[in-house]
Amino acid sequence: MAEARPFNWEYRPPEIPHEVFRVAGGRPLHGSVPISGAKNAALKLLAAACLTGERCRFTNVPEIEDVRVMAETLRDLGVVVDHPEPNVYEVAAGDVDWLFVPLEAAAKMRASFMLLGPLLARFGEVIISNPGGDRIGRRPVDLHVEAMRAMGAEIQYRYGYYYAKSPGRLRGAEINFPFVTVMGTENAMLAATLADGRTVIRPAAQEPETDDLIEFLVKMGADVRRTAPDTIEIVGKRRLRGAQHHVVPDRIEAGTFMVAGAITGGKIRLQGARCEHLRAFLAVFDRMGVRHDCGPDWIEVDASDTGPGEFRACDIATAAYPGLATDLQPPTSVLLTQAQGRSMIHETIFEDRLEWLTELRRMGANVELVDPHHAIVEGLTRLTGAHVEIGDLRAGASLILAALAAQGETVIHGAHHVHRGYENIERKFVDLGAHLQRLAEGITPLSS
Ligand code: EPZ
Repeated sequence: MAEARPFNWEYRPPEIPHEVFRVAGGRPLHGSVPISGAKNAALKLLAAACLTGERCRFTNVPEIEDVRVMAETLRDLGVVVDHPEPNVYEVAAGDVDWLFVPLEAAAKMRASFMLLGPLLARFGEVIISNPGGDRIGRRPVDLHVEAMRAMGAEIQYRYGYYYAKSPGRLRGAEINFPFVTVMGTENAMLAATLADGRTVIRPAAQEPETDDLIEFLVKMGADVRRTAPDTIEIVGKRRLRGAQHHVVPDRIEAGTFMVAGAITGGKIRLQGARCEHLRAFLAVFDRMGVRHDCGPDWIEVDASDTGPGEFRACDIATAAYPGLATDLQPPTSVLLTQAQGRSMIHETIFEDRLEWLTELRRMGANVELVDPHHAIVEGLTRLTGAHVEIGDLRAGASLILAALAAQGETVIHGAHHVHRGYENIERKFVDLGAHLQRLAEGITPLSS
């Protein structure tokens, strides 16, 4: 590794813009909304581009804060990242001169840990910050680290950093995870594309974003196959080439807008959304009696003829794909407040992901947190405007949803969380007829 730059021990916490969303609720949303490329595909694709020195080009990349952070993190390593036009990124990782991913990157974005596999496999070493936990749970990375060790890497943990080395090429290995981990699967898969021999990952994530990554790796010349629904096999190659890829649509953004249509009594067409990626979520809509329709590249939700209280309560449980996405639990919870009767929410993936419901309660929702993994929603409740605080990305988008359905004005603090993962969210809602503004904290327009 080049020793050109001094080791930076000084941690500068990220600068946080103090912004709020102000929302005047109670208006049905109507129209068509374009669904952007998936955050959770784009971030891994940018990391995967480090597996080759040749230029890679990505289209349909969402213009969001997390992508900007990943691009900056790559530039700090010496990677050339061009952004020639909106939604297009080009990555050329020919000269990587600094194999160090600092705490600054990890503190802003957990997906910075996706650089472990590619950098270790291609350059034989990397020092990378532990991304730690966040507002939705502990979120350890032990399974990523164990997977690299199984492939022959030597990894030590000191002062918050993983020091990873591979004396020669990584070796293919049998990787048996105790349960499904999305980024764990993807990190191991990226490392295995340049390892010596065959790697088998089981149980492997089945998320559409993981398949999008596989598609890109195959274009790069990698030998990666899903040999069973929960098994991925990789035969490592000595080198990979540059490739182009169009990012898969964001199913979580699509689900969020579907709930917006349903709870405001509106009708929304999600342009570009794929029904096949949302089967478990659409099954919840079926059970609740929310009308929707699927086309080849769109989904439409129509609640314009549905009166308050016509949705039925429904018990939900999150699970790894193809189950109900944990990232769609917060929007679905908002929808359940608008259904008649008692619904049970079982959050199986993260231990703190129901915490945000206490904010929803401030808006009048009748929600009981039974334990870290279970909550009961009693409907139908009339939501009312309030001051609420966003703790994480998906909870933030869901508080906007609640505010759109609520009577009166809601002020949502911590808007920056939402811009980490939703492209142009206020513009999209305004185009559907919402009365919503993003403002610096302390400014008070809106009111009509
Ligand atoms: C991905 O996180 C997504 N992030 C998350 O989306 C998503 O909620 C999650 O998968 C589950 O679908 C990205 O793709 C960037 P996991 P990931 O490893 O991969 C435990 C959003 O809002 N675990 O599948 O980190 C872990 O604590 C985000 O867009 C270990 O114990 O999730 C959790 O309980 C939030 N050790 C479970 O596994 C490990 O080494 C599943 O997490 C790794 C994970």
